[in-house]
Amino acid sequence: MAEQHSAVPVAPCDFVVFGGTGDLAVRKLLPALYLRDRDGQLPDATRIVAVSRAGLDDAGYRDKIRGELPRFVPAAELDDAVTARFLARLSHVSLDIDDPLGWPALADRLVDDEKVRVFYLAIAPGLFGSVSHRLAEHGLVTASSRLVLEKPIGHDLASAREVNDAVGSVFEEHQIFRIDHYLGKETVQNLLVTRFANTFLEPLWNASGIDHVQITASESLGVGSRGGYYDTSGALRDMVQNHLLQLLCLVAMEPPTYVDRETVRDEKLKVLQALRPITGPDVDRSVVAGQYGPGLVDGVAAASYQDDAERLGSTTETFVAIKAEVQNWRWAGVPFYLRTGKRMGRRCSEIVVQFKAVPHAMFPGSEGAQEPNRLVIRLQPEEGMRLLMTAKEPGPGGIRLRQVSLNLSYEETFQRRSPDAYERLLMDVVRGNTTLFMRRDEVEAAWAWVEPVLDRWSRPEHAPRPYPAGTSGPSAASTLIERDGRAWHE
Ligand code: BG6
Repeated sequence: MAEQHSAVPVAPCDFVVFGGTGDLAVRKLLPALYLRDRDGQLPDATRIVAVSRAGLDDAGYRDKIRGELPRFVPAAELDDAVTARFLARLSHVSLDIDDPLGWPALADRLVDDEKVRVFYLAIAPGLFGSVSHRLAEHGLVTASSRLVLEKPIGHDLASAREVNDAVGSVFEEHQIFRIDHYLGKETVQNLLVTRFANTFLEPLWNASGIDHVQITASESLGVGSRGGYYDTSGALRDMVQNHLLQLLCLVAMEPPTYVDRETVRDEKLKVLQALRPITGPDVDRSVVAGQYGPGLVDGVAAASYQDDAERLGSTTETFVAIKAEVQNWRWAGVPFYLRTGKRMGRRCSEIVVQFKAVPHAMFPGSEGAQEPNRLVIRLQPEEGMRLLMTAKEPGPGGIRLRQVSLNLSYEETFQRRSPDAYERLLMDVVRGNTTLFMRRDEVEAAWAWVEPVLDRWSRPEHAPRPYPAGTSGPSAASTLIERDGRAWHE
């Protein structure tokens, strides 16, 4: 068994997962809870109630999860005794949300009104409002209840407001946890620590010291079996409105007075509100939409998006590149280039902060290029951080300059598994800590910023630019940054 780390136990809770047999529950939520149990974070009285229409009894559900866990928990982390303890916490309630008859069975499982109660909605967002209302109708919402919502929160500003209004009429804002799993990633949290627990970066972290920032989330996978959802979403809604903008906020935000649920979110909101609006014909200049065609990924033939999603003629974008600007004192004139895509050459998510070039070239006759410094924060794979700097190559006979990197590999330095984002976030839900979750106003500000782009793309003449699967996206994305005399960090 892998090394265990002391973890402070959370309060006992009833953890109710709507969509308990679905992909998210099986692939992410239950493995995350298992690992928290394994590390001693779940007290004995913690219960997990799965809700679905699957018609399973408790034993049937436990059998199902017993079979699934080894697929999603690394073998080194699995332990028979922990598995037995974990499965004993599980039960299943068959319930059709719109059928009032099923609800009393759920109420029977939730008897202790003092215990923390988590309602995790791993279901279609169109049901968020009705589930909240039913929970209230059946008297299941207590003072220590929390509601967890998976994205997407709506598909535009108006629908996001509707969802927020509907859940907000039952739960207080401090009880609502809108998950953006990127905020639970270790490297993303480390970004805050790197910025604010060290002195050397902050004096340079502004328009005087930084030339530009790049945020990339590229995936080699296609849309797989999610074509039905994805075709109504596209990369702008699926990745940019939430994950990429949240990363941008953490890079650009002002230091909060201390790290606390409201101060961090207040500062992120200010960044979203300072984004230069991209509207009308400016969308064509500042934003690139792409869609993958057939190609080769890792040497294997890959089908087009339209074939994968079974949507011939679809104009849904699977790639987006944007030049964003934060209009405030700190960031005036510093572009933030964002890019995300499916079926790219490789899976890689990273933030690259490129510093200004030195003001004067002191080594004109030297061999080798004097590249600007870059801080590369790698979210995945191989989480870590690299500071690219120029050094003298050792040896006599003139000065040769070489770009070298100061490397922090998480795995080598900390010698332990990085927990999955959901492990951290689920424990924060039980603790009632909303710092790493999106507040209503943040979600709506993010929608307000992307909406003019969506409007522009809804015109009949809009067509995403094709790119072959397995590449770095359409050439227009390179043009977007090269026009400014810069290049994507590859
Ligand atoms: C999800 C998107 O929010 O994030 C998916 O809906 C995407 O389309 C996924 O694949 C990426 O997450 P990660 O953690 O693999 O980068």
